[in-house]
Amino acid sequence: MNKDFIGESLDRVDGRLKVTGAAKYSGEYKPAGLTYGVLVPATITSGILNAIDTKAALRASGVIAVITPFNAPKVPGYQPDAPRPMKGLKLFNDNKIHFNGQPVALVIADTFERATHAASLIKCKYERQSFATNFHENMETNSKPAGEQHKEYVRGEANAYKSAPFIVEESYTLPSEMHNPMELHVTTAIWDGDDKVTLYTKSQGVISSQRAIATAFNLEQKNVQINSHFVGGAFGSSLRTWPHEIAAVQAARMVKRPVRVTLTREQMFLLVGYRPLTVQKIGIGATADGKLVGITHESFSQTATYEDFTERSVNVSRFLYASPNANTRYKIVPLNVGVPAPMRGPGEATGAYALESALDELSYKLNIDPIELRLKNYADVNPETNLPWSSKYLKECYQQGAARIGWDKRAQKPGTNRDGEWLVGYGMGGGAFGAYRGKTQARIILSADGTVVIKSATSDIGPGTATAMVVIAADRLGLSADKITFELGNSALPVAPTQGGSSTVSSVGSAVNDVCVALKQKLYNLSGKPENSTDPIDYTNVLQQHNLPSLELTTESDVNPDAKKYAMYSFSAHFVQVYVHPVTGVVKIKKVVAVVDGGKIINMKTASSQMIGGAVGGIGMAMTEEAVIDDRYGKYINSNFADYHVPVNADIPQIEAIFIDKPDPVLNPLGTKGIGEISLIGVAPAVANAVYNATGRRIREMPITPDKILKG
Ligand code: MOS
Repeated sequence: MNKDFIGESLDRVDGRLKVTGAAKYSGEYKPAGLTYGVLVPATITSGILNAIDTKAALRASGVIAVITPFNAPKVPGYQPDAPRPMKGLKLFNDNKIHFNGQPVALVIADTFERATHAASLIKCKYERQSFATNFHENMETNSKPAGEQHKEYVRGEANAYKSAPFIVEESYTLPSEMHNPMELHVTTAIWDGDDKVTLYTKSQGVISSQRAIATAFNLEQKNVQINSHFVGGAFGSSLRTWPHEIAAVQAARMVKRPVRVTLTREQMFLLVGYRPLTVQKIGIGATADGKLVGITHESFSQTATYEDFTERSVNVSRFLYASPNANTRYKIVPLNVGVPAPMRGPGEATGAYALESALDELSYKLNIDPIELRLKNYADVNPETNLPWSSKYLKECYQQGAARIGWDKRAQKPGTNRDGEWLVGYGMGGGAFGAYRGKTQARIILSADGTVVIKSATSDIGPGTATAMVVIAADRLGLSADKITFELGNSALPVAPTQGGSSTVSSVGSAVNDVCVALKQKLYNLSGKPENSTDPIDYTNVLQQHNLPSLELTTESDVNPDAKKYAMYSFSAHFVQVYVHPVTGVVKIKKVVAVVDGGKIINMKTASSQMIGGAVGGIGMAMTEEAVIDDRYGKYINSNFADYHVPVNADIPQIEAIFIDKPDPVLNPLGTKGIGEISLIGVAPAVANAVYNATGRRIREMPITPDKILKG
């Protein structure tokens, strides 16, 4: 293979389309006869919708229909006797209200403005019931275990840390955080007769969306066409098909015209998931020389009353360090809120925040450098499974990160390093994220003009999927990138997994690798030259010789059966330098160095951008983001971009992305492991640890706002 292509920096193949506005997002398709659906939110937090008065709305200009629980056609997949009854909120299927803002009606009109106005004319009669939205009040009393795959875990002795001479026993709180992608969630649904429907929808997985819509409406899967050509960010919020998407399809069938439903920013806080508020209790103990004796990690996470959401927040404590004893417990707390969803590094980031904070606290108790403490407890095999790592270069991450941030300038004693008025601190944190690969098909078409098109039904929510695929194909075929096009975001293409869990390059990239290799073999066979010939062949000549207008191949790639014998993870070490103003409590993040062992890197430019994006997400988690509910009303009070603070340019310092860039020998033929989630995992604890190093103030409740620093 041509080693020169993989790992170089190719500009995004769709970059020009995106920055010029030529890229068409799901909310920009305007089929003939398009109508607009606007959701009407419940104004109570729990109870029964007894009656709904739609008369004024129906009389308003331009209104075509109003869907309510009292007139909605049944969604077959919502019914308990369906072959595969769907999980989650079933909009308009009954009149129960589970959370404030749950849609009680969908108004359909000829313009968005008229639908919005008519929505304001809907009047509801409710029976109010008592509700619970306060996590802390309900954490101990109303929590429940989280199902079979989250069973309590014990290695060695439970709570062994208590017997250690040096102990940290603390609790760490992350508030609910919203995905808040720039693009709103939007679905346009167009029926063709009674048994075929086309959607333009924001989706991380066009095949999984196709399956969900087919299940919901009892259609043949091939009769559901999902298009999601461009996605303006998702971070996990489009991993599943949400009720408003089904409502759009339902409405389009009812009014016999295309319907577009666009969520408002406020509705995005309610209907498309979020990182759940989580309280984690960590007990960690070590001997005087820094050897871990035990780790106990217990997590309580918010979920909805109508659906359980779980994630892997405690799992990291089982395997990141070589502790002889470890036990974890994971519980969920049902509240009258919308259901959470995986968000940016999901539970692995949540868990790493707690573990890496506690380990930092321990390092000060022991008076050992935090990196040194990690090296003393470095896990050479996975201590949870005793399996060897497929590859692990975490030591190299520590080394390179320390060098680039200037770790040697860190003071071990907190609050002692000053630059003028400012206190200076250094912190680090890290983590791991599973390296995955799923079965994927890809099709390749070589045309007589020498151009190549590759197709696979994957998605691109921002990382630059098509660009990475073009790099892989260019490398494998020995063609220049401008000869290659990659098509995605269309459920009619060969089957690919959902874009999630940092696995797209591993899964789809492997399929692209394999289909290119197969094409090349076929061309060599046709040319009569041996496959291993070093003599290059001219692809277009081969086609001409055989009178072929084009050559097409489809292959399927599956996981390496040897994968079972290994523990496969990407690893990170994040380093942060902060300045803290002792009088105002203002924190300035001066520098972030993100070092990742994510296996081989395919496209350095987009991979680095992804690392920078992940670090920005981590800074948001540490410094600014918090979705706040007023528990008197059970309603979010900051569901907008003015009050919910995502980091802006002024919050973001220089971020340096470093890749170890060594191939993993097991996971896939490319040597990649995945970088999407690991780019964020470790950032928030690194910030909190740097703030402690600067000030001696340990903030155990994110985000780290100035008031908390001043209170200590
Ligand atoms: Mo990611 S949280 O799997 O979109």
